[in-house]
Amino acid sequence: MMDTKIMTIHGRDGVFSCEEEQALQEAGEVLRSGGLVAFPTETVYGLGGDALNPESSRKIYAAKGRPSDNPLIVHIARMEDMAAVVSRVPEAALRLGQAFWPGPLTMVLPKAERVPRETTGGLETVAVRMPSHPVARRLIACGGGYVAAPSANLSGRPSPTSARYVIEDMAGRIDVIIDGGDGDIGLESTIVDMTVDPPQILRPGYITQDMLSEVLGQVSLDGTILTADSGQAPRAPGMKYRHYAPRGELTIVSGQVAEVTAYINAHAAQDQAQGYKVGVIGTDEALAGYRADLICSLGSRQDEESIARHLYGILRRFDDEQVTRIYSECFDAMGLGQAIMNRLLKAAGHRLVELDSNREQ
Ligand code: TXA
Ligand code: MG
Repeated sequence: MMDTKIMTIHGRDGVFSCEEEQALQEAGEVLRSGGLVAFPTETVYGLGGDALNPESSRKIYAAKGRPSDNPLIVHIARMEDMAAVVSRVPEAALRLGQAFWPGPLTMVLPKAERVPRETTGGLETVAVRMPSHPVARRLIACGGGYVAAPSANLSGRPSPTSARYVIEDMAGRIDVIIDGGDGDIGLESTIVDMTVDPPQILRPGYITQDMLSEVLGQVSLDGTILTADSGQAPRAPGMKYRHYAPRGELTIVSGQVAEVTAYINAHAAQDQAQGYKVGVIGTDEALAGYRADLICSLGSRQDEESIARHLYGILRRFDDEQVTRIYSECFDAMGLGQAIMNRLLKAAGHRLVELDSNREQ
């Protein structure tokens, strides 16, 4: 166990107090000397190390308990720094950067020589992202400009959307945790592979397929994103792991509200009779109808951003309360819903019950 220093830095609107600036310099120095710093981004918290130092990347894998064939995303603070970690900047990558950076978008490109294979999980490509969170950007600049950062959770747990989850998973394992408040988006960045034609989405996120298509024209989707494992390996190595798995068995139920409520209540009662503790992941509109041990709302069905923001926190809460059976409502896999359903289906190990008999095939 090591001593983990907790720093609180909100940096609202990108303005830091003298104390906050000092703390950021100190955390930057930790990164430069090969240490690990967890920090807030607009998506989820990251577990950062110097991306150009192979020893830092090894420490990241060890702290997370993560297999080292799973590549890390290199975070930068300025658009022009992309050129230093990739071997070539295609024109399409520049256009995407101009449209969506800083922000929740990661691009996979051929890597430059100086990026160690420890950082890219042995691949010849590198994933690059420029986050918009002011604390993240200042830390990256103070830390030397290139910060490798996976989500700051222990391998197998949901990504942390709040510093308290980072503390749960990482205290005693890393040098510094920066508490910068709750994540805005709550789901990890969209990953686009720019080494193929047309570019391909490897992980859906806040930047949707439509938004990307507007800039790039055609954009394809990795076939494993919304379908059950078909023997096909996802192209982002990390997507093959059961990343988002809660400890309880999760089932997604789709259909009309009344049918879904009746199904969930009937199964919850049966499960309870067998000694299971039952949780329901619902929405404001349907919440009053459920009967279970723990009922949580993701927010209004009309507000997809709220659903995205609350999903991981609720999965963690069910773990904390030792819920052993979980039922969730289903969402349309359109727009941001594509990312929501991708994470929810992974958490459920693709256990989906479809009740709607009128649904068109
Ligand atoms: O929003 C995010 O992207 C967060 C914050 C901290 O920035 N980071 C994050 O990192 O989600 P991580 O390590 O949890 O997920 C990175 C994903 C993994 O599925 C990994 O396999 C994939 O990106 N990836 C990284 N480099 C890749 C590459 N060169 N080719 C294909 N996939 C890659
Ligand atoms: Mg992760």
